[in-house]
Amino acid sequence: MIDPIATPRSFSASPPLRGQIAIPGDKSISHRALMFSALAVGTSRVTGLLEGHDVLATAAAMRAMGAHIERGASGEWRIDGVGVGGLLQPQAALDMGNSGTSTRLLMGLVASHPITATFIGDASLSGRPMGRVIDPLSQMGADISASPGANGTQTLPLMVRGMAPAIPLSYRLPMASAQVKSAVLLAGLNTPGITEVIEPVATRDHSERMLRGFGADLSVEIDADGARHIRIRGEAELKPQTIEVPGDPSSAAFFIVAALLVPGSDVTIANVGLNPTRAGLVEVLRAMGGDIELVDARDVGGEPVADLRVRHSSLSGIDVDPAVAPSMIDEFPILFIAAALAEGRTVMTGLDELRVKESDRIAVMATGLQAIGARVTETEDGMIIDGTGGAPLPGGATVAGHLDHRICMSFAIAGLVSKDAVTIDDMTPVGTSFPNFETLLTELTP
Ligand code: S3P
Repeated sequence: MIDPIATPRSFSASPPLRGQIAIPGDKSISHRALMFSALAVGTSRVTGLLEGHDVLATAAAMRAMGAHIERGASGEWRIDGVGVGGLLQPQAALDMGNSGTSTRLLMGLVASHPITATFIGDASLSGRPMGRVIDPLSQMGADISASPGANGTQTLPLMVRGMAPAIPLSYRLPMASAQVKSAVLLAGLNTPGITEVIEPVATRDHSERMLRGFGADLSVEIDADGARHIRIRGEAELKPQTIEVPGDPSSAAFFIVAALLVPGSDVTIANVGLNPTRAGLVEVLRAMGGDIELVDARDVGGEPVADLRVRHSSLSGIDVDPAVAPSMIDEFPILFIAAALAEGRTVMTGLDELRVKESDRIAVMATGLQAIGARVTETEDGMIIDGTGGAPLPGGATVAGHLDHRICMSFAIAGLVSKDAVTIDDMTPVGTSFPNFETLLTELTP
């Protein structure tokens, strides 16, 4: 794979952000819409699909395994599926780019099909731990050879030799991960009998919701300890669906925080997904004093959605309850920026999973925030931030994005509330999840 040329960009003190924007479709839901449609028998239609590099990597992989996927001129995607059990042997390595979700979920699918697939990716993805999916999928019978990574981890490039029929499993998740949960459930789709995932801490439940929508026999039971037992009956027949993908709350997050921080701002973000397993940031920012109003709360494609009206607010530091972390795991980088402008101290703990995202988001954010003059202390599993009380950050530095879209966008927003410009060394990673990020920013500051 050839790395694109780095595009450095500078962001500086912004006038008030005003107006209404619609953000692109949810990344997690878009991946699943393509994968499940590709496994249904017949034609599914998807609107609002996120057309970022990560989701396009999933589309290319499903095509390579036999699905027919095309985008109509109106932006509607049509997918003709191969049926559960019908995935074909891909003729070349599957290039996952930067996308952990594509990799881990597709490894699950391949694991219970009689095919062999090689997974490759960019430098960021090739450093991420895959043992967390290799363990359960191997127990189901898949034969997986991975590359040795740092500190004994197993990484890409790797090869999955699927086992059909695979062996059903009851698997208790050792970490809060929707990707691992989904990988096992997807392997279970083509496995005889019942495959169970036990989730002590709830993570995003898009797989469960959408698999049910496609007609899979899937149940969720909560035990006395509050753990979720998700059971799927294998050798399922999925029925084609029409899916409307709601806007991505993880993309909305950057504009929510920008509107809260830039004085005089008043922004409405239309069509934001507010699934309770994703909406932790709104809760936390409100607890910090953020003025976020939910307008026209409704249901889109089985997911709760609302328009969000966000006005500039004076924020106060808080101790963030670690229990909300899974429902906002991708939003911590931008919450760190909000905390850096709040009055007083914000303490965040229980964030170990942030160290194995597209970058080590605790270390990378701490380094960048220090470079632009914020007062932050990195801890083993979190961050302590003493905010400016609303005063601009000094800025005036170049920050490394480490091939991590959310790091790049977080520091872009920091630039809007800094005295001197903040430069991000390379903004190209933003295309993985939010290709029109800069366009929307410009629209709000005419
Ligand atoms: C995702 C799950 C989360 C999240 C990622 C998308 C998904 O990862 O960080 O951006 O779509 O299932 P983990 O499962 O590693 O927590």
